[in-house]
Amino acid sequence: AAFDAGEHASYMLKEILEQPDSAERVLRGRLVERFGTAHLGGLNLDARETRAISRVKILGCGSAYYVGQMGASLIEELARIPADAEAASEFRYRNPIIEPDTLYVAVSQSGETVDTLLAVQEIRRKGGRVIGLVNVVGSAIARECDGGIYLHAGPEVAVASTKALTTMFLGFSLLALQLGRVRDLSIADGRRLIEGLQRIPDHIRQILGHDDEYATIAKQLAEAESLFFVGRVRGYPVAREGAQKFKEISYRHAEAYQTSELKHGPLALIEASVPTVAIVPDDELADRNVAALHEIAARGGPLVVVTHATVDLGDLTATRIDVPACERELDPILLTLPLQLLAYHAALHLGHDIDKPRNLAKSVTVE
Ligand code: G6P
Repeated sequence: AAFDAGEHASYMLKEILEQPDSAERVLRGRLVERFGTAHLGGLNLDARETRAISRVKILGCGSAYYVGQMGASLIEELARIPADAEAASEFRYRNPIIEPDTLYVAVSQSGETVDTLLAVQEIRRKGGRVIGLVNVVGSAIARECDGGIYLHAGPEVAVASTKALTTMFLGFSLLALQLGRVRDLSIADGRRLIEGLQRIPDHIRQILGHDDEYATIAKQLAEAESLFFVGRVRGYPVAREGAQKFKEISYRHAEAYQTSELKHGPLALIEASVPTVAIVPDDELADRNVAALHEIAARGGPLVVVTHATVDLGDLTATRIDVPACERELDPILLTLPLQLLAYHAALHLGHDIDKPRNLAKSVTVE
């Protein structure tokens, strides 16, 4: 390989541990404290053009698509522009309506994923404006876009994306902040988010310091043939990403679901052999989330709850993983980190090839 995993057992572990540094890099020079905003020079969008945006459509594949969902929430919450994410692979095959006042955002670590690239080309052919959130400088997607944000995550080798994904989330935070401050986000809220963003690298370090704890939990989860990952609203894309990582490298069946939808189907599958990893941030939905988890516990389903120390689980039988609290909008990325390590340790315990899982490629460049 062109890059060396060095002292680390795998690239995935090396890249997980690099996340505080890559988080610092993507933020560096892009926060303008005085005005409570972000400065993204490569967007090629002036204030008037920004104000004219009526919708944001985010496109990516795999983990990039799930982070895109997190990004859509950030943009809706901070900039109050309707936003959603879609798998680029689906988008380009359904003859999508391309609107001139929609901002299209392509997300890709490699910048070479063919489904994402062809979606970008299709949008531009129809006169749409596309910006890229891309890690690899000068890659095909970066070249095709009208502007964008380079992620500066450094080279990522393991198939399961970790540090690139973290920088994608932070890239979306910067984008949402800049769009928000041209629209309705107050300077006070802008500054509050900047302070939150500045704390992220330390929060990441703190979470990574609990690696032993995650290893113990992961070994138990690895014994299960099938698992659920559940979350709602901000927590749902976190659950999707957690399930994706787990299945990619442990080869266990891991399914993500909205916690609110459990009672409409999957509860039928809950029993002692089917664990659930639940994402429960300390937000306005915490009580409802905990109530839903009682339904799982009542059926003997083992529970791992990724949450904040301030969430009261009452008498729920569960293993809890507390992550540091930040600004609520930024919670998703911190909640995602323990899930990377759960997947990593499960795969390690099962003896799988962590960096090159069977049947998967780092970037899918052919149709
Ligand atoms: C492949 C990888 C995924 C990755 C996806 C998108 O399917 O296995 O881990 O998330 O491609 O890659 P990109 O380079 O576009 O972010």
